[in-house]
Amino acid sequence: MMRYATAALLLLALSIIAVAEARDNFLKLPSEIADFFHPKERSDAGGDSVGTRWAVLIAGSNGYWNYRHQADVCHAYQILKRGGLKDENIVVFMYDDIAYNEENPRPGVIINSPHGDDVYQGVPKDYTGDDVHAKNFLAAILGDKTAITGGSGKVVDSGPNDHIFIYYTDHGGPGVLGTPSGPYLYADDLNEVLKKKHASGTYKSLVFYLEACESGSIFEGLLPEDLNIYATTASNAEESSWGTYCPGEYPSPPPEYETCLGDLYSVAWMEDSEIHNLHTETLKQQYHLVKKRTSSSNSAYGSHVMQYGDLKLSFEDLFLYMGTNPANDNYTFVDENSLRPSSKAVNQRDADLLHFWDKFRKAPEGSARKVEAQKQVVEAMSHRMHIDNSVKLIGKLLFGIEKGSEILNSVRPAGHPLADDWDCLKSLVRTFETYCGSLSQYGMKHMRSIANICNAGIKKDQMAEAAAQACVSLPSNSWSSLHRGFSA
Ligand SMILES: *[C@@H]1O[C@H](CO)[C@@H](O)[C@H](O)[C@H]1NC(C)=O
Repeated sequence: MMRYATAALLLLALSIIAVAEARDNFLKLPSEIADFFHPKERSDAGGDSVGTRWAVLIAGSNGYWNYRHQADVCHAYQILKRGGLKDENIVVFMYDDIAYNEENPRPGVIINSPHGDDVYQGVPKDYTGDDVHAKNFLAAILGDKTAITGGSGKVVDSGPNDHIFIYYTDHGGPGVLGTPSGPYLYADDLNEVLKKKHASGTYKSLVFYLEACESGSIFEGLLPEDLNIYATTASNAEESSWGTYCPGEYPSPPPEYETCLGDLYSVAWMEDSEIHNLHTETLKQQYHLVKKRTSSSNSAYGSHVMQYGDLKLSFEDLFLYMGTNPANDNYTFVDENSLRPSSKAVNQRDADLLHFWDKFRKAPEGSARKVEAQKQVVEAMSHRMHIDNSVKLIGKLLFGIEKGSEILNSVRPAGHPLADDWDCLKSLVRTFETYCGSLSQYGMKHMRSIANICNAGIKKDQMAEAAAQACVSLPSNSWSSLHRGFSA
């Protein structure tokens, strides 16, 4: 009996990996519309006084199956470093469990593309391990040394003429971004900090690049246009983002790698930035290239790259934020000298399953490694089913059999934030997790349902009652465990 259940879970996992989510290629949110103004217009950034360039780079995950996020961040550091930014102005957050992970076929080396060089060497490890959390990240942006715990203490100590570049790569869900420790980063807290930074008058302009599932929801209806902040996101508010250079894709990682090496949007901006003279390319030109490369022509995979905030800033040169590598001085940007899109991609939410599956497939028959990989697939799948079923059941208990899924899945029109009351969202997340176990990386996808429960006026005690009924027992595996605390 157990054998059949296991086999069924393995098959289910495989079918999830194999079938890319269908997507609507024609979906357009209003925030995309402004994009049609003056596509060729250019600012003359040459005469602009630049001040100091600052950067905050953060990989929000840990675990070898999430190799790609830390690889993205290390790669971004190398680009900025070659662009002329100084280490004292680049704040790096990475868990740092990849380079010397026992699964890493090249100890001490991290690559971000199949033929790529090591990107790990020289990366300042400002915040690693359990010091990578939302509070430290927000304090670093604000330049608030007193609010920092652990780490190097490096913060963005910027002045009014400075330019700031922030790059975040991880898993996410509607209204939320993952972190390896502590509560996740919620969109309201991030936008509040950006407003506070603006009010302190300590930057001239700020650019935020964000890779995560549903990353558009972090700024949709939340980021004001008058903060001198320009943001682009890997996906709109209601779709996943995608991993790339994954086993089984072309180009694929070297055969000894059983994990994705990068993320689609992230690799697109970085591989573009590292081949051009960035005095000659604007943020807007890069946005268009990245958008094109991140959506596939046949719509079998990919996401809609979005832009938010002060779109006028997009006419500025990338040089203002990333500097430029002197070796690229003669590589003037012209339209279409971008890179080929890759042929396939893997939904970020399934990249862990892909890792476990690839490990399972390659492990010798009867080996301890094969048994371990099988256990990992089965545990990840049972966690998913437990979370999906619990949320669905809670919806039915609260709103009735018919209305349940309609209320849980409803999406607000573009321009509106996910939730009206973010404290309610956080409180209901904790309530859910008290009875049903950790949402964890996969479960972040249900944030919209929990926000909708709040938006419908459900109070904490009603949620508690429904969750207690829905979750009679928790799976005992590590995904469901609350040992890292609540995710809100
Ligand atoms: C760019 O071209 C000029 C003129 O051909 C040459 O002198 C210079 O060395 C080149 N710069 C780089 C970085 O290749």
